Amino acid sequence: MSRVAEIFPSILSANMARLGEEMEKVKAGGAKAIHVDVMDGHFVPNITIGPPVVSSLRSATDLLLDVHLMIEDPDRYIADFVRAGADMVSVHQEAVVHLDRTLGLIRSSGAEAGVALNPATPVETLSVVLDTVDFVLVMSVNPGFGGQSFLPYTLNKVRQLDRLRQERGLDYHIEVDGGLKPDNITEVARAGADWMVAGSSVFHSKDARQAVVEMRRLAQEATLSRI
Ligand code: DX5
Ligand code: ZN
Repeated sequence: MSRVAEIFPSILSANMARLGEEMEKVKAGGAKAIHVDVMDGHFVPNITIGPPVVSSLRSATDLLLDVHLMIEDPDRYIADFVRAGADMVSVHQEAVVHLDRTLGLIRSSGAEAGVALNPATPVETLSVVLDTVDFVLVMSVNPGFGGQSFLPYTLNKVRQLDRLRQERGLDYHIEVDGGLKPDNITEVARAGADWMVAGSSVFHSKDARQAVVEMRRLAQEATLSRI
């Protein structure tokens, strides 16, 4: 995907009984991908969905499926999620012991490989693997729940990742996840984010389609003014 800023609506805040319709709404607003939060009740204190739901999403939409694994021992499930239809898969740096092996597993299963960082995990922990990742996901809330407030200090990590990819001539995408809304999307895009995940600000708004249109416009304007 090109370096145009995009909004990835997170179905965590959608009406789970009507996921097909929810995805249609955000697609009509210009969304290119759906963000799917997978939680296991161990790595994070919440439980969500698994491969069968991803497989149903895959049959209901042609949008890209961006699967964010907030689970322990993700190696056990990566192939299942890719077979179910995941186009991008991210694992948490904090949940993985052999990161190089895990990234290889995502790639060889056929998806783009990403690493997610909790707010308190420094960018430096990825320094060695940065040239092997397709994207880095910066958590801007502590993972586990939708609807939390954006942590402003995480913006420095976005800036740092943007600087590093320029200095090292790399082309990974930077994804930001948690607490994003029209009020802060411009600042996040200016810091260097390409993919901006938005859950409650899309699906808890009056008009999900319009929420995507508006945030996408703000993000893309901010990206243009960055160049
Ligand atoms: C949080 C999840 C997010 C969440 C974002 O653990 O990883 O993707 O859905 O929701 P909002 O946009 O409501 O903060
Ligand atoms: Zn997420």
